[in-house]
Amino acid sequence: MAKLHNSPSFLILTLLFLAFQVSKSDKTTPHKHHHHLEEEADRIIALPGQPNVSFNQFSGYVTVNQMAGRALFYWLTETPNHPLSKPLVIWLNGGPGCSSVAYGASEEVGPFRINKGATGLHLNKFSWNNVANILFLETPAGVGFSYTNRSSDLLDTGDRRTAEDSLHFVIRWMERFPRYKHRDVYIAGESYAGHYVPQLARQILRHNSNSGSNPIKLKGIMVGNAVTDNYYDNLGTVTYWWSHAMISDKTYHQLINTCDFRRQKNSNECESLYSYAMDQEFGNIDQYNIYAPPCNNSDDGSYLSSTRQTMRLPHRPRQTTRQMSGYDPCTERYAEVYYNREDVQKAFHANTTRIPYKWTACSETLNRNWNDSEVSILPIYRELITAGLRIWVFSGDVDSVVPVTATRYALAQLKLKTKVPWYPWYVKKQVGGWTEVYEGLTFATVRGAGHEVPLFKPRAALQLLMSFLKGQPLPKA
Ligand SMILES: *[C@@H]1O[C@H](CO)[C@@H](O)[C@H](O)[C@H]1NC(C)=O
Ligand SMILES: *[C@@H]1O[C@H](CO)[C@@H](O)[C@H](O)[C@H]1NC(C)=O
Ligand SMILES: *[C@@H]1O[C@H](CO)[C@@H](O)[C@H](O)[C@H]1NC(C)=O
Ligand SMILES: *[C@@H]1O[C@H](CO)[C@@H](O)[C@H](O)[C@H]1NC(C)=O
Ligand SMILES: *[C@@H]1O[C@H](CO)[C@@H](O)[C@H](O)[C@H]1NC(C)=O
Repeated sequence: MAKLHNSPSFLILTLLFLAFQVSKSDKTTPHKHHHHLEEEADRIIALPGQPNVSFNQFSGYVTVNQMAGRALFYWLTETPNHPLSKPLVIWLNGGPGCSSVAYGASEEVGPFRINKGATGLHLNKFSWNNVANILFLETPAGVGFSYTNRSSDLLDTGDRRTAEDSLHFVIRWMERFPRYKHRDVYIAGESYAGHYVPQLARQILRHNSNSGSNPIKLKGIMVGNAVTDNYYDNLGTVTYWWSHAMISDKTYHQLINTCDFRRQKNSNECESLYSYAMDQEFGNIDQYNIYAPPCNNSDDGSYLSSTRQTMRLPHRPRQTTRQMSGYDPCTERYAEVYYNREDVQKAFHANTTRIPYKWTACSETLNRNWNDSEVSILPIYRELITAGLRIWVFSGDVDSVVPVTATRYALAQLKLKTKVPWYPWYVKKQVGGWTEVYEGLTFATVRGAGHEVPLFKPRAALQLLMSFLKGQPLPKA
C-alpha cells in the first residue's frame, strides 16, 4: 500500500481531455470522401440500453504504430446542437493504466451513467458534452479496449510512449474526422494525466513546429488533482494527512525526516512509515475522498485487493444505504460488466481483434511495469506558459491522494505573478471553491470534491469547463 509517494506505480485515476475545434471547410484533404466513410463507419447507432439522445456518437480504433500493431480506442460524444460551433474536448484517464471510458465517460464528465447491474445507461445532467464535443481516449495501448499486437509493449510503456502514441492518435483522428481539423484544441485531465496532459501538449507543440502547414491548434490545457512533481507532491501529501488529522505528529515528523521525497523508490524505513500511517493511523477511509463513507471490504475481497489496493483505485463504499447524493460507489463494477458485454462491444466497434484478456477499468500490468515517469512536470508548465497556452489547474480539496496542498506547493515553484487575487468562486449561489488567477495559469479548488472532481461535484465541474473554455475567471457570485 505504501505506493503513494512512488510515482511510477502511483495508480491514480487520471482524466485528460483534449479539445479540438472544427473547421467546416477542409481544403487540405484529398480523400474527403474516403474520410467521410471512415467517420461514418465509426458512428454508434445506439448503445445497448441507452436512453434516446439528440447527439451523435462515434467510436473505434486509430492505429498509432503500424509495426507493433498498436491501436488506441476512442469514444466521441458530440454536443446536441451545432457541434461544429463548439470546441472538441478529448478526455483521458491516467492511472497510469486506467480507462477514460471507465472513469471519465462513465462516472465523471460523460453523457451516460451505467445503471445498477449494468442493464443499461441513464443520462448525466451535467455532462460536459452540453458545452463541448468530448472525445474519450483510452491511452496508452493496453488500457481498456486499446491494444497492442506486440505483447511486450505492455511491459515497457511509460510516459514517453504514451505521449508519442497519443500525438499520433490526435493526428490520425483528425484525418478521419476532417471536419474537426484546423480547430482550436484543448487538452486537460486529472491525476496521473497531470503527466499525460502537459506531455501531450508539449508533443503537439513540437509537432507543430516541425510540420508547419497543418498545425494542431492547441489552445490550452486543464488538469485536476494532477500528479505534478515528485518532491512537492509527496511533501504536500503528508502535510495534507497531518493537517487533516489523519496521522499523528510523530508519524508526520518521521516521514518528513526519513523519506527522500525526490526519490521514486524509497528506503525500507520510509516505506514502513508509510505503511504505518496508512494501516495503523488512517483507518478504513476512502483516501480519494476522506469524508466519504468507506468501502465495504467484506463484500468482495478479491476485487478490492487486486484492483483497489494494488492499483490505488478509489476506494468506494459498497453499501447502497450510505450513498452520497448522486454517487453510486459501485459504478466501476458496473462498468466492468457493461463494457465486457458482447452486444456493447459490437455497438462500440470495440475489441474487433479478440483481445486476449477482459476489459478492465485499469490495467494492472501496465501500471506495475510502468517504464518511465518524469520526476517533475513543472518545466513543461514553463514551456507551455511561454507558448501562451491557456492553463487551468484545479483541485478537489478532500482528496488525500493528490491533495490540494501538493498542487499548491508545486505551483508555488513557478513563482507566477498574481493577476486576480484569491477569491471564492460561486456555483448556484454557493462557494464552489477558491481561485486565484496568475499570469499564465489559473488555479481553482473545488470545495468538498474528492479526487474525481466531476464525480463528486458535477455542477461545479461543468462550471469549471465553461469558464475554462470561455477563458474567463470563475464566477464571483
Ligand atoms: C425513443 O425513441 C423511439 C423512436 O423514436 C420511441 O419509440 C421511444 O418511445 C422513445 N423512448 C423514450 C424513452 O423516449
Ligand atoms: C493486430 O493483429 C490483428 C490480427 O492479426 C489484425 O487484424 C490487426 O489489424 C492488428 N492491429 C494493428 C493495429 O495493426
Ligand atoms: C458489508 O456487506 C455485507 C454483505 O453485503 C453486510 O452483511 C455487512 O453488514 C456490510 N458491512 C458494513 C460495515 O456495512
Ligand atoms: C475481447 O473479446 C473476446 C472474445 O471474443 C473476449 O474473450 C475478451 O475478454 C474481450 N477483451 C476485451 C478487452 O474486451
Ligand atoms: C524506458 O525508459 C527509458 C529511461 O527513461 C527510456 O530511455 C526508454 O526510451 C523507455 N522505453 C520506452 C519503450 O519508452
